[in-house]
Amino acid sequence: MIGMVKVRLASIKELSVIGDMWKKLEPSSKYQDILKFYMIFRRYIFIAELDGNLVGFAAGSVKDDIRGHLSAIYVEELYRRHGVGQKLIESLENKFRRENFRKMTLEVKEDNYNAILFYERNNFICIGKKPRYYGTKDALFYLKELT
Ligand SMILES: CC(C)(COP(=O)(O)OP(=O)(O)OC[C@H]1O[C@@H](n2cnc3c(N)ncnc32)[C@H](O)[C@@H]1OP(=O)(O)O)[C@@H](O)C(=O)NCCC(=O)NCCS
Repeated sequence: MIGMVKVRLASIKELSVIGDMWKKLEPSSKYQDILKFYMIFRRYIFIAELDGNLVGFAAGSVKDDIRGHLSAIYVEELYRRHGVGQKLIESLENKFRRENFRKMTLEVKEDNYNAILFYERNNFICIGKKPRYYGTKDALFYLKELT
C-alpha cells in the first residue's frame, strides 16, 4: 500500500533529483541541458511527491508554438503501477489545455512496451514512426487531441 501522491510544479532546488531520474531514462542526457530545458520550460515540469520522497517527474515543452509535447516522464521503479504516472501526465495535459493547446505529442522507443501501453491507455494515437530517432532505434510518434 502506498500513500497519497502529490503532483506539483518542480522547483529549481529539485533539479538535481530530476536530473538523476532523467539520466535513468536517458543515460546520455547532461545536467547542463536539463538546466537549460528547465530555464525555458519550467512551467511544464511536474514532480510527484510521495511520503516526502520525490518519486517521478514529467517534463513538457512546446513545439512549433502550437503543440504541447511530453519530453520526458519517469517514475521510480518501486512506485510504478500505483497511478503516479497517470497523475503526472494528467497534470501536464491539463496545463496544456489551460494554455489552449489543442494537441499534445510524444515520442517513445518502439520497444518500450510498458510506456506504449501507458500512452494508449491515455488515448494517445500512434501517427507515425521516426527512423533512428534514438540512435539505432526507431521512435513511434503519438498524438492526442486535447478536447
Ligand atoms: C511509463 C511510466 C511513466 C508509467 O508510470 P506508472 O506510474 O507506472 O503508471 P500508472 O500506474 O499511472 O499507470 C496508469 C495505467 O497505464 C497502464 N500501464 C502503466 N504501466 C503499465 C505496464 N507496465 N504494463 C501494462 N500497462 C501499464 C495501465 O493501464 C495503468 O493502469 P492500471 O495500473 O490501473 O492498470 C513508468 O512505467 C516509467 O517510468 N517507465 C520508465 C520510463 C519510461 O519508459 N518513460 C517513458 C519514456 S517515452
